[in-house]
Amino acid sequence: MVHETRKAEPVLALYCSHGSDLGLWGKPQLIEQKCSTCHPASLVYEKKRPVQEWDRILFGMKIRDLKVTVEEEKAIREILSERYSEK
Ligand code: HEC
Repeated sequence: MVHETRKAEPVLALYCSHGSDLGLWGKPQLIEQKCSTCHPASLVYEKKRPVQEWDRILFGMKIRDLKVTVEEEKAIREILSERYSEK
């Protein structure tokens, strides 16, 4: 018997959280997951920042021991620049 019913994979939802699907979530999953271990994730939503500043912050968080893969970092950067940046 093959596995016909597969549970939805949370990982997929995670990678769909960037791009045009963004509006579906009140809060981006990836940020909730990755950015709430050392401080509340709300710190991230507090204010809009230019993309260059987000780059600087992400770099700083990695030095402080944030663990993200290259893909995750890209997705996070995308979320930040689309939703939490000054235009
Ligand atoms: C390993 C711990 C750690 C993780 C994980 C982490 N941070 Fe931080 N973050 C810090 C610390 C410590 C501070 C305190 C202020 C500082 O040192 O700059 C901070 C401060 C901040 C600030 C405020 C900086 C300012 O200048 O106002 C922002 C914004 C921020 N983090 C964003 C993020 C984002 C986005 C993520 C996820 C991608 C994240 N952090 C994940 C440790 C972490």
